[in-house]
Amino acid sequence: MEEKRRGDAAPGSGDRPGRAEKVLRDFVVTIDGPAGSGKSTTASRLASRLGFSYLDTGAMYRAVTLAALERGVDPEDGAAVSRLAESVSIELGGGPEGASVRLDGRDVAREIRGAEVSRFVSPVSRHEGVRRAMVRLQRRAGAGGGVVAEGRDTGSVVFPHAAVRVFLVADAEARAKRREAQLRSMGIVPDIEEIRQNIRSRDEMDSGRAVSPLVRPAGAFLVDTSDISIEEQVSLVEAEVRGEAARLAEAAIMDGERNPAARARPYYRASRALVRALFRGLFGLEIRGGERLRFRENYIFASNHVSYADPPVVGCALDREIWFLAKKELFRNRAFARLIGAYHAIPVDREEIERKTMKRIFSILEGGGSILMFPEGTRSRTGDLRPLKPGLGYTAVSAGVSIAPVYVAGTNDLGRCLLRRRRLRVVIGPPIRIRADRIATDRKSEYRILTAMVASELEMLRDEARN
Ligand code: DC
Repeated sequence: MEEKRRGDAAPGSGDRPGRAEKVLRDFVVTIDGPAGSGKSTTASRLASRLGFSYLDTGAMYRAVTLAALERGVDPEDGAAVSRLAESVSIELGGGPEGASVRLDGRDVAREIRGAEVSRFVSPVSRHEGVRRAMVRLQRRAGAGGGVVAEGRDTGSVVFPHAAVRVFLVADAEARAKRREAQLRSMGIVPDIEEIRQNIRSRDEMDSGRAVSPLVRPAGAFLVDTSDISIEEQVSLVEAEVRGEAARLAEAAIMDGERNPAARARPYYRASRALVRALFRGLFGLEIRGGERLRFRENYIFASNHVSYADPPVVGCALDREIWFLAKKELFRNRAFARLIGAYHAIPVDREEIERKTMKRIFSILEGGGSILMFPEGTRSRTGDLRPLKPGLGYTAVSAGVSIAPVYVAGTNDLGRCLLRRRRLRVVIGPPIRIRADRIATDRKSEYRILTAMVASELEMLRDEARN
């Protein structure tokens, strides 16, 4: 792949604002925050300024709640509500301006704002099955980019790779006043005490629930909206989004100037081609998503792990030289140690990564190299994703390197791949970029949240790998 990029635009060439516009068009922007922090207004106005569509995920949970109330389904009954969420049709219509919400074809935009729905939407949105159904719809809606998504988990779970993840906060009183005004504008006469109570209890439920709690996504642009006008909020966020588009457009121009640290040396390139051809010929290896990477950018590739064949299969699918961690035991045999050493295996103690190994990892990343990690820590016997170790988030944040999720499927079933009953597949996901100046002060929780975001991306890629 790298060979083809030689012809790319030279640095300094091209029309930069035009390029930034082009980069911008593919963006997903997420806006999360507690009830009444100004998300809806900010998101819909931003969408209209950018010419994007507006994805109001809260409206989707509200629509499911309305359906449950109308059909007499108990909001606390997870199984029943989840079944309902799977079976109803929810369409969010209109462009940036006219937000329409259709529940089985009927416009319910007004009804879903009523007190009854507001009261029961938190218990409804807590059920895992409900979330799974809604997140699937949301990801489909955002797949093509050009979307501003708004909710509680759009940056942390639905679109962790969003180009800009915004997190709005505001004090409780400011939020109650805003909700009051919003209801008035819809012709509903509000009870301010009831609104306060509702905000308080929803805050607790939304932040405290086990599934997708409200969290500030890693690398989020934080805006406190308590004392600023809506106009200011929208402008702040718009500037952040346009700034990011300009920055990425600039990086795309630089991509033409090759990254010497990523360039594969001849022996590596030759063996990679050989290994790739072998896996392709024998097991039908298919590689997807390579176009999501930037050659100049280095990454921590975070892959799921099901077999000893994963490092060579993933390694041969990537467009650059990579380093990877291998357990120390594999280095006991000297010939084998030399072989994997030539392909950049770094010995690690599985129990505890030593300081000198961490130093080596950081020095590779700082030098522009990329590393392949298997953050589950060990192979998954069942093929299901195991919990990821937060060391992944720590390494990425500390080194200031983006994470590119990778899903490998079929390596634990090579026999069936050989018979073409199954596909050997590597799917490379969109990178999660973390800007140094957007890292939260609570670093520990930032590592944990970022790691969880990678887990969400891997789940998404798993679905992509199955089709
Ligand atoms: O933003 P809103 O008030 O319309 O959201 C209604 C409820 O839906 C809110 O109490 C929490 C839930 N919600 C959620 O759990 N996840 C989202 N992404 C959006 C909303």
